[in-house]
Amino acid sequence: MKQPSQIKPAKGKLGVLLPGFGAVATTFVAGVEAARKGIAKPIGSLTQLNTIRLGKRTDGRTPLIKDCVPLAGLDDLVFGAWDPIPDDGYASALKAGVLHKENHLDPIKGFLSGIKPMPAAFSTSYVKKLDGPNKKVGNKKQLAESLREDIRRFKKENNCDRVVMVWCGSTEIFLRPGPAHETLDSFEAAMAKDDPTIAPSMLYAYAAIMEGVAYANGAPNLSGDIPALEKLARDRGVPIGGKDFKTGQTFLKTVLAPAFKARMIGVSGWFSTNILGNRDGEVLDDPESFKTKEESKLGVLEHIFQPDMYPELYGDMYHKVRINYYPPRGDNKEGWDNIDIFGWMGYDMQIKVDFLCRDSILAAPIVLDLVLFMDLAQRAGMGGIQEWLSFYFKSPQTAPGLYPEHDLFIQHWKLKNTLRWMMGEELVTHLGVEYYD
Ligand SMILES: NC(=O)c1ccc[n+]([C@@H]2O[C@H](COP(=O)([O-])OP(=O)(O)OC[C@H]3O[C@@H](n4cnc5c(N)ncnc54)[C@H](O)[C@@H]3O)[C@@H](O)[C@H]2O)c1
Repeated sequence: MKQPSQIKPAKGKLGVLLPGFGAVATTFVAGVEAARKGIAKPIGSLTQLNTIRLGKRTDGRTPLIKDCVPLAGLDDLVFGAWDPIPDDGYASALKAGVLHKENHLDPIKGFLSGIKPMPAAFSTSYVKKLDGPNKKVGNKKQLAESLREDIRRFKKENNCDRVVMVWCGSTEIFLRPGPAHETLDSFEAAMAKDDPTIAPSMLYAYAAIMEGVAYANGAPNLSGDIPALEKLARDRGVPIGGKDFKTGQTFLKTVLAPAFKARMIGVSGWFSTNILGNRDGEVLDDPESFKTKEESKLGVLEHIFQPDMYPELYGDMYHKVRINYYPPRGDNKEGWDNIDIFGWMGYDMQIKVDFLCRDSILAAPIVLDLVLFMDLAQRAGMGGIQEWLSFYFKSPQTAPGLYPEHDLFIQHWKLKNTLRWMMGEELVTHLGVEYYD
């Protein structure tokens, strides 16, 4: 990837298209509107709140990220969505039960009701626990073409300069990359003959890339993470990234695990379990969708601990992840971790983590940052996989043959150094010997 010689300015409207208009998507759009109206603050968003150090520690240059790189402003965002369930933004947000009706939904009811999901490319073969009447018909090639038309129409009707798409749809059943996903030709031929290995989320990714729309995937299903679409994105200079927003349990896991590793503390077992009662929890109650999520959640420790390199510390670690659908909790997930660790001379210890979180409250700022950073990458001419946005994902998409970096602080450092690099600023190495000359 070449260092951008210039970044086009963020002028005009930025369209945000969301396949899936459930808890995460409605919490995200409601939060943006609330921030625009001064009703609530965009907490958790680096693009809105975080600063970035430029130059030496003694230079005193620490602007906000949004004052350092040319990002689209919140006022320039316009939203659209697809969902098989026809609820508008207000009805869907009420059902999701994340945000307070009187304080946060009613004051922006007109805005939320105005976002009505377009008919979705959806099939219950890929999400078994849900269905709805708001669906497109046709073979997969026709569905993809129809999504492309939706993108063009949305862009025109809303007078958008650019568009970004973030998959906020349900987790689909587990699929492995196969022959249909290898090349653009095999992918297009497979769409035309309704090949079952082409999931709906891949149609959205394909449609986005073909329309020059940056695409990020917030769920663990493959979607854009297949060779055919990765190459298409590179060839067309369209940024892509995924998979699976890193929000609750995995966010903490990728903070704690690097700490044990840094101190050469051993880990014999890590048991993670969750209860949640939202629609996502219901979808994940299906073993095939859970398998997709499980793979995504399990991968992180293997890569952080490198058991092949440290067999006496991590070689026999037992890692188990469970998600239990428990309706009374709604979106307020509880994630427990029991971590069995061992130290000096092999003496054992335990750590218990009980994270009473709110799933969509943690995910919404990630959607906002991905929208704004993906758009930045697009204007900077950075097509293909955006590995610098691994910070936001449980299963970061990487170049073929490269293992993903999961350590949250390395990811954070990489993100900020990429912003510095884009702006032609000096990279921060933290070496710091010059202060002692
Ligand atoms: N909230 C978090 O912390 C978090 C973290 C990581 C990943 N995720 C993932 O984000 C996604 C959204 O989560 P949520 O809590 O909003 O779930 P949700 O069930 O409330 O919303 C998902 C919506 O996607 C729709 N949908 C499914 N297939 C679709 C398709 N083909 N086209 C268009 N719409 C489709 C469903 O009808 C539903 O309304 C899930 O895949 C979830 O696993 C969430």
